[in-house]
Amino acid sequence: MVVGFEKAVSATKSVVTSAKKAPTTLSSDRVINFARGDPTMYESYWRQMGEKCTIVISGHNLMSYFSNAGHFCWFLMPELDRAIRRLHCVVGNAVVDDDRYVVVGNGSTQLFQAVLYALSSSYDPDTEPLSVVAAAPFYSSYPEETEFLRSGLYKWAGDAYSFDKDGAYIEVVTSPNNPDGAIREAVVNRDGGKLIHDLAYYWPQYTPITGKADNDIMLFTFSKATGHAGSRIG
Ligand SMILES: Cc1ncc(COP(=O)(O)O)c(C=O)c1O
Repeated sequence: MVVGFEKAVSATKSVVTSAKKAPTTLSSDRVINFARGDPTMYESYWRQMGEKCTIVISGHNLMSYFSNAGHFCWFLMPELDRAIRRLHCVVGNAVVDDDRYVVVGNGSTQLFQAVLYALSSSYDPDTEPLSVVAAAPFYSSYPEETEFLRSGLYKWAGDAYSFDKDGAYIEVVTSPNNPDGAIREAVVNRDGGKLIHDLAYYWPQYTPITGKADNDIMLFTFSKATGHAGSRIG
């Protein structure tokens, strides 16, 4: 469900108004901004955690470009790599065996763009750009994120359900889906297809975890896992 911020605010106001008749403890900070999906509802939880969850980064930390020289993702601190793998193991939402790479980026948005490049860069730029599709209703930022760099290698091609071009393509499979929460699988299923699994919401606070996701390319993000959207870590 997507509703505008104004509507969400006025809906809350009407709840608060009716609270006069039947008093509740609802307060105005219970507004959820559906327009942007800003996960600030976790803020009060982290405040309660207080010092237990405070991180101090000393001035001499993180000086080198290379946190893990020789690793595929050379700027990923080994501690963070281990913590990410451990979290997935505890939750049981993704296969993170040693033969899998963990790559961090500036949120899942940057990783999405990096993956589009990685999947399309071996194609001859003189041929048509690779089509990028997702089954409607899809996350409203995919078209913009795909077109943002004006790449000649790939282009947004809309709803996967109506995609009928032959040849190579990229399908984004979002599960649980934004905006409707549906559990999704690929819908095009033709030769030449490459899949990006956007698992931003595959965490137990959003959906039952029914098994370890085991896809070639899986996107997760701190924005939805812990609510730290401003940290820009995906
Ligand atoms: C399905 C989905 N993928 C990715 C993102 C963006 O994640 P990030 O903040 O890590 O760029 C969002 C944010 O709303 C989302 O809903």
